[in-house]
Amino acid sequence: MNKAVNVCTNTKEPMIVIEGLKKYFTISEGIFGRKKQMVKAVDDISLTINKGEIVGIVGESGSGKTTLARVILNLTRPTEGSVMVDGIDMRCATKEEEKRLRTDVAVVFQDPASNLNPRQTVASSIMRPMILHGKSKKEAMEKANEALDMVKMDRRYLNSYPHQLSGGQLQRIAIARALVLKPKIMILDEPTSALDISVQAQILNLLLDLQEDMGLTYVVITHDLNVIRYISDRVAVMYLGKLVEFGPTNEVVDKSRHPYTNGLMAASPILDPKLRGKKKELMGGDPGSLINLPDGCRFSSRCRQVTDRCENMTPRNYSINSNHQVSCFIYEGQMESV
Ligand SMILES: Nc1ncnc2c1ncn2[C@@H]1O[C@H](COP(=O)(O)OP(=O)(O)O)[C@@H](O)[C@H]1O
Ligand SMILES: [Mg+2]
Repeated sequence: MNKAVNVCTNTKEPMIVIEGLKKYFTISEGIFGRKKQMVKAVDDISLTINKGEIVGIVGESGSGKTTLARVILNLTRPTEGSVMVDGIDMRCATKEEEKRLRTDVAVVFQDPASNLNPRQTVASSIMRPMILHGKSKKEAMEKANEALDMVKMDRRYLNSYPHQLSGGQLQRIAIARALVLKPKIMILDEPTSALDISVQAQILNLLLDLQEDMGLTYVVITHDLNVIRYISDRVAVMYLGKLVEFGPTNEVVDKSRHPYTNGLMAASPILDPKLRGKKKELMGGDPGSLINLPDGCRFSSRCRQVTDRCENMTPRNYSINSNHQVSCFIYEGQMESV
């Protein structure tokens, strides 16, 4: 089931504008760490996320999804390129604007336990960001109670400690904590990956309700295509630090174009009973390292449609239509280049 695009809140007003973003890490290797190597975790990504929309970022482990999220959250500085969040260019943000961004952009991580301090009650964990932002204890307590209502949990859980709660309850608390400062954007990094399947659906439904009620913009990072299908308006597919395909969810999921996206779709477990028992053509190999990157297209070593050119030249983004881009030479010339 695809989430219907929310026409009321999705106004096509840009909320996050990423241009030519690069984030490289230098790591030491060899005896005494003398050999320096470059990890190109995010390599020249441009992406616009509109106000009130849900954009899924999908890709195998190590493709740079979390690094991209950390840059948007201003937890790490880009090596090159720019990120503009709600009109604020992070390269030249004032202290005041940086403070505003810390309130406007919230995050929920995969492991619910890591979002919360094991030695603090739920109330203290939820109240902490508000107290750090200058709210009184009384006001913070009131808001913590309201936050529990928002995530549909009984207020008595405010006195619990994280070890007394289930995975799903912990993730609800983490969401409540992320919401108390009334953010505009939520970054959800694998929000349901650590949860049982039945609980996953409950958390996704809760996130959809909150997004609609509060007009939030979501960036949902996941390797689970079923989550993407269920929740996102648009999908960005990453492969070894590059954006290989970006477009509306129904197009990317049901009519995927990039050979890597096709491979990902084939690798996703089939829930459609009509397709059960049909053997799928699976992608071979693994993504490999971000250090010894192949010249040319990064997917060339695994691609069934590879040509000599793919091994020597990096493809640009080609438009399938005004909303759908693919970075693969197959689509060159057939469509208008962007
Ligand atoms: N602080 C860091 N120092 C060095 N390498 C890093 C650092 N953070 C991430 N990386 C590397 O960047 C690559 C992308 O990581 P990550 O963004 O976590 O990918 P994903 O979230 O898609 O699994 C990985 O190879 C990872 O080892
Ligand atoms: Mg990650």
